[in-house]
Amino acid sequence: MKKDLPIGFFDSGIGGLTVLYEALRMLPHERYIYYADSDRAPYGTRPKDEVRTLALHATDFIVDQGVKALVIACNTATSAAIGDMRQRYKVPVIGMEPAVKPAVTHTGDPKRVLVFATELTLKEAKFRELVARVDTRKQVDFLPLQELVLFAERFEFDEQVILPYLKMKLQAVNLNEYSTIVLGCTHFIYFKKIMEQVIPPDVRIIDGNRGTVLNLKNRLGECLNEGPGGITYFLSDQPKPAAYFEKYLRLLEPASAKT
Ligand code: DGL
Repeated sequence: MKKDLPIGFFDSGIGGLTVLYEALRMLPHERYIYYADSDRAPYGTRPKDEVRTLALHATDFIVDQGVKALVIACNTATSAAIGDMRQRYKVPVIGMEPAVKPAVTHTGDPKRVLVFATELTLKEAKFRELVARVDTRKQVDFLPLQELVLFAERFEFDEQVILPYLKMKLQAVNLNEYSTIVLGCTHFIYFKKIMEQVIPPDVRIIDGNRGTVLNLKNRLGECLNEGPGGITYFLSDQPKPAAYFEKYLRLLEPASAKT
């Protein structure tokens, strides 16, 4: 593995930037290629085979650029194609899955765990098998919030639009039954602050982003770049100016850093 090769990041769109954001903090000297398949997003409403084909097209493109590792910063693409990717490429392939395991192991009380993810992730065998394996006390429920993907892709973060949607989706859910909410789609991270307005303050909202980057770091071992770092962006096979993506990365900055 050559240290100065970039690390490839892939998502159906701009959701994976929330994982890249963690990577930039934990591995700041690395070079990155970020590929958003925004022309074909959302993936979560498509059949598995279609997502598999789209995802492999994108990851073939990334691997052809020459990368030392590949991060599938998309729960949906991971559930549809991670096995194929691991067979297909020589480089380490790091996938994502909803952080159900840490949620159930942290839930020492009788309260429940609610997983938000895309329609396909929640339907897929990978998620069902994960729940069957770790949810020994039958505490896990789930809810697709697919429209959040489109809102994020359109850079629609207006509370007046998002809050009514969340309230409508959560209408039939008694949130007091839950101790933990798992964000099982990387696009959903952008809405965490808005979610906090409808979710009781004692309910933890967790995601798998940090765990994914820790996994990447472990897989890289000694093969770390000594800098300088940088990011090259692609939008569905075409180079795209950084400004398009940086406006999303800025949304993730802590409030104190914005002023
Ligand atoms: N960001 C994706 C995920 O983590 C998928 C969103 C979509 O395209 O539906 O699942």
